[in-house]
Amino acid sequence: MMLKDKVAVIYGAGGAIGIAVARAFAPAGAKLFLTGRHLAPVEVAAQDVVSAGGSAEAAEVDALDEQAVDKHLQSVTDKAGRVDISFNAIGIPNPKIRVPLVELDVEQFSLPITTYTTSYFLTARLAARHMIPNKSGVIMTVTSTPSRTGTPLVGGGGPAMAAVEALTRDLSAELAPQGIRVVGLRPQGMPETARIKESFELYAKASGMTREQFHELIASRTHTRRLSTLEEMADMAVFMASDKASGMTGTTVNLTMGSLDD
Ligand SMILES: NC(=O)c1ccc[n+]([C@@H]2O[C@H](COP(=O)([O-])OP(=O)(O)OC[C@H]3O[C@@H](n4cnc5c(N)ncnc54)[C@H](OP(=O)(O)O)[C@@H]3O)[C@@H](O)[C@H]2O)c1
Repeated sequence: MMLKDKVAVIYGAGGAIGIAVARAFAPAGAKLFLTGRHLAPVEVAAQDVVSAGGSAEAAEVDALDEQAVDKHLQSVTDKAGRVDISFNAIGIPNPKIRVPLVELDVEQFSLPITTYTTSYFLTARLAARHMIPNKSGVIMTVTSTPSRTGTPLVGGGGPAMAAVEALTRDLSAELAPQGIRVVGLRPQGMPETARIKESFELYAKASGMTREQFHELIASRTHTRRLSTLEEMADMAVFMASDKASGMTGTTVNLTMGSLDD
């Protein structure tokens, strides 16, 4: 019960990472407040947690809408008395066509940068305001490998992920003295997710391979010769959210199984 009685808010809780983290946080003892832009998938995630004996409530919250996030956090504090963990797992859809940077228009380039930095800033800032009076809390971010390594055809995705990792460090520099840790997770593509299935398909086609061959190629670059799973990512999220990780803040955990050096 590493998260016994911790009150956790998850944004993008209807997505692959949000659901996996909710499923791992619940048996660790957390009280979950699951949110997403559309209610239906979040309700399914909450039902799943409750059926397994956990505690979860679902709400429709657009994590780019300041008022909606603020109102929801206030309702969580009113019901549960506090906010201990804020986990943002939102993801905007993959572009259907991968455009090289020299041909990309400004709006397409800016979209991931604006979306991710705004949402991470808003959810962190508003959660921190509820955590500061308690001198305790954990704010968590999710990024991907283009934050740290040159990757073709991701448009503004690389700069967006690098910016979120910088924000993770800067938030920690300001909030850690007040008892709030800010930590990130940087998983490599987890092939069981719809996002990565689609992305591998696109890259495979462009390289004249099957999706399975492309998967093998990416896996061969890891030390383990396999890609990590949602369960492994979520188990790390539980540890990072828990008091056992009190020595970690201002950093992003590298979950790439050796394929990306620190
Ligand atoms: N999947 C992976 O293996 C992997 C690996 C490394 C990093 N990541 C990163 O982790 C993030 C999540 O990935 P995922 O695979 O879980 O994606 P996903 O399955 O597409 O889930 C993303 C979720 O975010 C929700 N969302 C989007 N905009 C939102 C907003 N403004 N407010 C609230 N919710 C919003 C989506 O809701 P709707 O569908 O209703 O819009 C969806 O439920 C992405 O940034 C991705 O790049 C993923």
